[in-house]
Amino acid sequence: MFGFTYYAPTKVVFGKDAEQQVGKLVAGFGAKRVLIHYGGRSALRSGLIDRVKAALDAEGIFHVELGGVVPNPHLSKVREGVSLAKENGIDFLLAVGGGSVIDSAKAIAYALADPERDVWELFLRQRRAAGCLPIGCVLTIAAAGSEMSNSCVITNEQTGEKRSYNDDIARPRFAVMDPALTCTLPDYQTEAGCADIMMHTMERYFTQGGNMELTDEIAEALLRTVMKHAEILHEHPDCYESRAEVMWASSLAHNDLTGCGNDGGDFATHLLEHELGGMFDVTHGAGLTALWPSWARYVYRDCLPRFVRYAEKVMGVQDQGQGNEQIALEGIARMEAFYRRIGMPVNMRELGIEPTEEQIQAMTRSCAAAAGGKKGSAKVLYPEDMAAIYRMAR
Ligand code: NZQ
Ligand code: ZN
Repeated sequence: MFGFTYYAPTKVVFGKDAEQQVGKLVAGFGAKRVLIHYGGRSALRSGLIDRVKAALDAEGIFHVELGGVVPNPHLSKVREGVSLAKENGIDFLLAVGGGSVIDSAKAIAYALADPERDVWELFLRQRRAAGCLPIGCVLTIAAAGSEMSNSCVITNEQTGEKRSYNDDIARPRFAVMDPALTCTLPDYQTEAGCADIMMHTMERYFTQGGNMELTDEIAEALLRTVMKHAEILHEHPDCYESRAEVMWASSLAHNDLTGCGNDGGDFATHLLEHELGGMFDVTHGAGLTALWPSWARYVYRDCLPRFVRYAEKVMGVQDQGQGNEQIALEGIARMEAFYRRIGMPVNMRELGIEPTEEQIQAMTRSCAAAAGGKKGSAKVLYPEDMAAIYRMAR
């Protein structure tokens, strides 16, 4: 087991009607002037925004609101939020939504802490953040894990670049999680969310690190749990217990718990997917499932013990003397079958995109630039490997 620093400072308030506590939570963090940030229409339609405003009013907290955050959130919306927040002397960001809204709020919070500089410089890796205003969130979709993560992913819609910036100072102060809020999700978003949750742990699992028994067991339990409840939710979207299991998994999958003791993780599938998000604006979780089978078949020989363990402990493959390669390949095939059962694509055609060779070259250049030339732990990928995986996934 490698050494690690585990930092998960977010206060989690979990359960039915948890959002009623949001006013007291915001007040407890000393906030006086709040920007409520949200997405398209779902949080308005359900009445959640009105309930959140009432909870802030009850504590006498000033608030303004800014909706309209889109999936793969845009830099222009971040800039709009920064202007609005400056005009109103905002001292706290309250994100009501999913990863896109929370990430947009994180980017606004970075910008407000250093108002003279362009926040996009962070995403271009040109500097580190000087600070970050405090953020809280009311989560409405179990997926990205941004509610406890140090990560923030923004798309510059002018250039088509989707880039992440990671910093512990942006981890939300609190995350309000009422699983019932996620019952209004379309099936596709629920299942794409489950796929993303699993991938956050899989990115930490398929590594060249040594033995980490407890972390591996936690990761495998999380993966089995999400698979089970993803299938239940595909048939019974109103099942509160399944919503709750998946929501808690979303946070644990990406607050670093399932990576404690590894070598930093792989994250190549995420890197490759962010290019699909930037160029084709696909749903993040679906982009991941469209790439993962190809990534897995490309790298498994370089990380065989992990793929064998995964096949046996997560996918239920039995060793009947078929040899490790066959066990690993059976595990990948079963994963692919699971994706199909929950309605997720397993290649880019099924995702609805058919990148040309030129587009593959462009995504590869962008990937390599974002990663500093290479990426991965299961197998270190260089630009030619990235392009090969994109071609395999067509
Ligand atoms: O905009 P509205 O109308 O709210 O609709 C949203 C959106 O269309 C809808 N939705 C959310 N909650 C709902 C709901 N619809 C009905 N009922 C509800 N309760 O769901 C759609 C997707 O929302 P989004 O916030 O985009 O989903 P997600 O949480 O999957 O976030 C995806 C973004 O997060 C990034 C992704 O790349 C992508 O940009 N990621 C962020 C990470 C992080 N910060 O740690 C890590 C991830 O790997 C990921 O990269
Ligand atoms: Zn993700």
